[in-house]
Amino acid sequence: MLKFDKISKVYRTEDIETTALNEISLEIKEGEFVAIMGPSGCGKSSILNIFGLLGNPSSGKYYFLDHEVSSYSEKQLANIRKSNIGYIFQEFNLIDELTVYENVELALLYQNKSKNQRQELVKKILEDVGILHRMNHYPKQLSGGQQQRVAIARALVAKPKLILADEPTGNLDSEMGQEVMDMLKALNKSGTTLIMVTHSDYHASYANRILYLLDGKMQEYGSQNEIVQARKNEVEVCS
Ligand SMILES: Nc1ncnc2c1ncn2[C@@H]1O[C@H](COP(=O)(O)OP(=O)(O)O)[C@@H](O)[C@H]1O
Ligand SMILES: [Mg+2]
Repeated sequence: MLKFDKISKVYRTEDIETTALNEISLEIKEGEFVAIMGPSGCGKSSILNIFGLLGNPSSGKYYFLDHEVSSYSEKQLANIRKSNIGYIFQEFNLIDELTVYENVELALLYQNKSKNQRQELVKKILEDVGILHRMNHYPKQLSGGQQQRVAIARALVAKPKLILADEPTGNLDSEMGQEVMDMLKALNKSGTTLIMVTHSDYHASYANRILYLLDGKMQEYGSQNEIVQARKNEVEVCS
């Protein structure tokens, strides 16, 4: 589904240069559930943004569905994003001025669908995530867990092949976090490829692969336990 060939990401500000990703090569196949871990400031969001075509790599080649996309225009990238990728963020990123229904419908507006078709899809997905009864509410009128369910519905409504989630349970209590994880797991079981950044050992254990980022480099581990064993004598840094 996607492939990195020596991808680097360097941020340059007036007086400092940060190498967030240093020549990372990897491949993620369709249907996988991948967790990304590592200390804060080690490039987790950066790598997810590149996966999701939201940020350009500084160098290297990125293949998305077999297309080398590094040289694509913003318009081409936007088209790929809209039809293939759903995003879930820690802060939910809902639009406060729109209702639950309208927030989710937004993800369908670029498609050639009638109002009735959109209504059917939006109501179905709101029902699936258990928030249909709040469809006329505004985000600020909902709990954190409810808002994240709306954000998940928005990510799913266009049936993307790939879901990217950046600390999706980071702002939720453990019960709500569990619900969100169960939803993501079910989604992956039904065939959607899932890449999730998490700080939770337990939530990482839902994944089939764990990628660990440190100092711009990536290591792959089979379990969180392996990470702990491999790193027990080392000091974690980044930031
Ligand atoms: N837009 C930016 N401009 C400058 N530096 C950035 C920018 N975004 C991220 N960084 C830096 O890149 C490094 C990796 O950041 P990030 O990918 O957000 O890490 P994580 O998600 O693992 O906390 C950090 O040192 C961060 O300060
Ligand atoms: Mg981050």
